[in-house]
Amino acid sequence: MDTLEPQLMPGPAAGQTSVAPTGRFLRNTWYPIMWSSDLVAGELAERVALEEPIVFFRREDGTAAAIAGVCSHRFAPLRLGKLCGGDRVRCGYHGLEFDATGACVRNPYGDGRIPAGSSLRAYPIVERHKILWLWMGTRTPDPAAIPDFSIFDDPAPGTLTKFDAITMAANYELIVDNLMDLSHTAFLHDGLLGNDSMTQSSIDIRQEGNTVYVARYNHNVPAVKVYDLLFRQDGKPTDFWDTMRWDAPGCFLLDTGVHAPGATKAEGTGIYAVHLLTPQTATSTNYLFSAVRQNVQNGQPPTPEIAAKIGELRRFIFQSQDTLMIEAQQDVLDRFPANTRHAALFSIDAGPARYKRVLRALLDADEPTM
Ligand code: FES
Ligand SMILES: [Fe+2]
Repeated sequence: MDTLEPQLMPGPAAGQTSVAPTGRFLRNTWYPIMWSSDLVAGELAERVALEEPIVFFRREDGTAAAIAGVCSHRFAPLRLGKLCGGDRVRCGYHGLEFDATGACVRNPYGDGRIPAGSSLRAYPIVERHKILWLWMGTRTPDPAAIPDFSIFDDPAPGTLTKFDAITMAANYELIVDNLMDLSHTAFLHDGLLGNDSMTQSSIDIRQEGNTVYVARYNHNVPAVKVYDLLFRQDGKPTDFWDTMRWDAPGCFLLDTGVHAPGATKAEGTGIYAVHLLTPQTATSTNYLFSAVRQNVQNGQPPTPEIAAKIGELRRFIFQSQDTLMIEAQQDVLDRFPANTRHAALFSIDAGPARYKRVLRALLDADEPTM
């Protein structure tokens, strides 16, 4: 691991800081569009990804399908239609039917002729780790490129928190910035996820291929509510760790927890926290989150009640604290572009700077955003 000090931070390029939003979407990548449990057999579900409305459904064999979510006739949203036999989506307006490849396969009127240009785009989709992964690019998708979230495959009873989701009215990069720089927990989540003793922690950056890790270790810091709940529930100081793993463009696995001062991680406890982003538009993001407890200690056995409590606390934190701040940031960027051309860089920006460098390289090698 290399520790980045302030003087090692890359300086701003002409007219642009190294942490400025790229303003671009990566197309040839897997997007974690929804939890598997959100796609119910027999129902249509709409999501927006990269400014494209998409309708999702399960085929009769249970596999997931995704086709463009707007009817080619008069642009009715297909979410207002219904699933009919043979894995077909029937538009709710005039009854055109589309199959899982997006082909228009039935025109109920006149001679039933289907004019050219009636078909819709279909999107590759893979169901893995209880997540539906959507491919928006034109290159051949490789399922091996899906990041590892096998913590969800077979979690021990009582260790899994809710598969939850929110929409944030902000560009996805502002959320990536937030998650790649967890120093904000000391202030924005003071007492719940962090406290100001954590401002002195070192920030270690590690990169493996295009995967970036940002790690912090804090020694002998006052108890943090979420972890105290899982650990000894005595409010005494602990050593605290968090290591965030990022895969482009917005897939996060956070390994975090506490142990007694001077002890080892194996003697502590914590969670694997997952954050999964898909840009809807330039100013809104589909945000999935959940968590699995790790290394549960005998004193605090896993129960669905504790898992539910962790889930509720996390939702409160993300919805009322991160969302408030990040949406307000987006609002500032939208309304005051002249005041926000240059961002000042600090040591805590090592994580955002590194991921942005990787993301820019991936974007440059991708196809242009349509
Ligand atoms: S808008 Fe869909 S059939 Fe007319
Ligand atoms: Fe946060």
